[in-house]
Amino acid sequence: MPGGLLRRRSATAGVPVSEPAPADLVALASAAAQEAGELLVARHGRVAVAATKSSPTDVVTEMDHAAEQLIRDRLLAARPTDAILGEEGGQTGAGPVRWIVDPLDGTVNYLYGLPGWGVSVAAEVGGVVVAGAVCVPLQHSTFTATLGGGAWLESAWEGSPRRLACNRGVVLSDALVATGFGYSSGQRAEQGHVVAAVLPRVRDIRRAGAAAVDLCSVAAGRVDAYYEQGTHYWDIAAGALIAREAGAMTGGLRGDEAGEAMTLAADPALFAQLRDLLASLDADRLPAG
Ligand code: IPD
Ligand code: CA
Repeated sequence: MPGGLLRRRSATAGVPVSEPAPADLVALASAAAQEAGELLVARHGRVAVAATKSSPTDVVTEMDHAAEQLIRDRLLAARPTDAILGEEGGQTGAGPVRWIVDPLDGTVNYLYGLPGWGVSVAAEVGGVVVAGAVCVPLQHSTFTATLGGGAWLESAWEGSPRRLACNRGVVLSDALVATGFGYSSGQRAEQGHVVAAVLPRVRDIRRAGAAAVDLCSVAAGRVDAYYEQGTHYWDIAAGALIAREAGAMTGGLRGDEAGEAMTLAADPALFAQLRDLLASLDADRLPAG
């Protein structure tokens, strides 16, 4: 993994200033995500809905807030001038590094005591995600990546971190495809039509319930591809870097970046096949209203 300080010139004074090394950022992201994961494990499956957000099915628990606060405290203790965009707390600060935090991705899994949830922390420098960590506590796993440094899995079942590579050479008809659904019923109706058309053309579909974990599953070869309309930046910032560093391509359907209209991840050849199918279904058309 890369180390050392990157150097750039200050725009104002012409004086060299130090940019943080991705290796340092990923270490901090991973530590904060794991500590939040431990906090969440202590209450797993034993919390109540605290509020709803975009729709009655879009729930938030007190633990989403507690985990985000812990991550914010840890990040700012180490790097007090950084900015943070968190799912629950929004954007704060305006420093050279912006952290993108989903304190509990897969809240509904967490609420029901299902194990497929994670904590996602990414670091952006100059608008580019350079480091990311997704901790999946009940899989005893932490996925990490740095830009250009590969994607890695640290797991309680494996002695040392393992470099990840997504599955290669899988044709669409043999592909195990993960997807997810939004929280609004109008969007779900559209997504239902799309998945009904995709299902007969692929090996099978998985709806595991956490976008960040789905992207890590692409990286680890546990699924061949992932697509979803309606993801937020905090759902995908770390996971998309991890998938890319494992050799996957990420993006939307029309040459655009992965985002709310569509997030698609797979090895480049499968990406192209699934992109063409999804584009023919207008799967990135955002529902009216
Ligand atoms: C959700 C999960 C889910 C995906 C939704 C996300 P949350 O995040 O990642 O799998 O389908 O699009 O909003 O609400 O559990 O943080
Ligand atoms: Ca999320």
